[in-house]
Amino acid sequence: MKFYSNIYQPNKKNLTKASKLIKSGKVIAIPTETVYGLAGNAYRNDSVKKIYSLKKRPKNNPLIVHFSSVKTMNQEVVINEQLIKLAKKFSPGPLTYILPLKKESKISKLVLNKKHQIACRIPNNKTFLAVLKQSGVPIAAPSANLSNKLSTTRSADVEKEFGKKLSYILDSKKTSIGLESTVLLLGASLKILRPGAITKEMIFKVLRKKIHEVKNQGDIISPGQFKKHYSPGIPVYLNQKKPKPNGALLVFGKQKIKKDIFFLSKRSSLKEAASNLYVLLRKIKELGYKSISITNIPNTGIGKAINDRIRRASS
Ligand code: TXA
Ligand code: MG
Repeated sequence: MKFYSNIYQPNKKNLTKASKLIKSGKVIAIPTETVYGLAGNAYRNDSVKKIYSLKKRPKNNPLIVHFSSVKTMNQEVVINEQLIKLAKKFSPGPLTYILPLKKESKISKLVLNKKHQIACRIPNNKTFLAVLKQSGVPIAAPSANLSNKLSTTRSADVEKEFGKKLSYILDSKKTSIGLESTVLLLGASLKILRPGAITKEMIFKVLRKKIHEVKNQGDIISPGQFKKHYSPGIPVYLNQKKPKPNGALLVFGKQKIKKDIFFLSKRSSLKEAASNLYVLLRKIKELGYKSISITNIPNTGIGKAINDRIRRASS
């Protein structure tokens, strides 16, 4: 029996409480439409430091800062024509922009990459937007998981990940997309640093400019590109047809084998598979399986982001 929980419903009273906690420098968990965020006041060095230490995240891996609108983003970030065009189409939503920080901005320098650029996004989630508006501050929030582990998509998983070290988690049944946002470097050359639900093709339609996809290149400004990342804690094997001994098989589409099988999407929907991926990887590990084999997943649309994450999980 459980007597104690840090999970709070996002009602009016708790949203006000959460906003006060953020403003006063506390770190809490808030859902977004992609995954849960480990959130703190982006103006405060102490909040940002707390996020790094709770996550055990290396200091050279910068954090995404969340805003309620392009207007509030514009107060801190040097926005450009590309941002305006993309934001019209994709924000609020799962697209993160990397841009220069304004000289006069009071945002903590600890969230920036080594080129003094900031990653920013407007999340499409009522709860997160409510806290952004009520607290009146930009919110730094990496995914709510320990460094190099799987992101969390349910409040119960956030609670398991941090235990009593994290005293306030705003609830949401399950984040709808289930995979982290697309990270896009704007400027003279456009680069996708992390694939997500907003694809290269979708971005190209808006900007009509060549977009590079960056994979583990030498000059890492976005350590989400580090190969070892998103690890469920047991070996992961790609493009498999059956489970290994004492292992489970994670299946995209239909499957005849009956034992030790978990379905990402029986109807072969990539969107559904994305939203189930982290839940199932966590569940298989918790059930005590010794490895996870995964069947082939089409490399189109959000399938590219799924393959990116499971490739890293397998390395
Ligand atoms: O969907 C998401 O993006 C979630 C939700 C909570 O918004 N956040 C998230 O944050 O996934 P995080 O910290 O787990 O991943 C952010 C990625 C990392 O790969 C990080 O290296 C990169 O974005 N990043 C953050 N700031 C950056 C910057 N200034 N320049 C380059 N890359 C940056
Ligand atoms: Mg992360």
